[in-house]
Amino acid sequence: MSAKIDIEFTVNGAVKQVTVPATASALDMLRDQLDLKGAKEACGEGECGACTVIVDGVSVCSCLSYAVDFDGRKIETIEGVQSDEGLDPIQQAFVDYGAVQCGYCTPGMVMQVKHTLDKNPNPTKEEIQRGLEGNVCRCTGYSKIIDAVTEVASS
Ligand code: FES
Ligand code: FES
Repeated sequence: MSAKIDIEFTVNGAVKQVTVPATASALDMLRDQLDLKGAKEACGEGECGACTVIVDGVSVCSCLSYAVDFDGRKIETIEGVQSDEGLDPIQQAFVDYGAVQCGYCTPGMVMQVKHTLDKNPNPTKEEIQRGLEGNVCRCTGYSKIIDAVTEVASS
């Protein structure tokens, strides 16, 4: 049995303290200990992006991260994207453009797009596509997703 380690970090602006097994994944910790179920596990191997969260401003696959590596970090998850005023513009564009079908990939997509737009608010279509290279969707065929992000980037 792996040792347990106390960690403290900020998630969506709130300080969290948890005790985690040394080998626990960050995704399992977020979902099982903090009840943040937005990030999903699909491949579990860093191939699909369904588990994407932002760590200190950088998008990461939380399935590949150890929970202990979140110690002292600033984490953003899909649960923190919506404000009191309503959906984030990225989320609204996904709705408006029909860029969601089953929705399993969507939290990871939105977080990856947020990372892309935080770094570059006016990306070209090619830059948008490149930003989403690591995110797999089994449903939409991608064109509606790219259209939605293009709309946000141009507004
Ligand atoms: S579940 Fe993490 S990349 Fe697929
Ligand atoms: S909407 Fe179903 S996997 Fe993307």
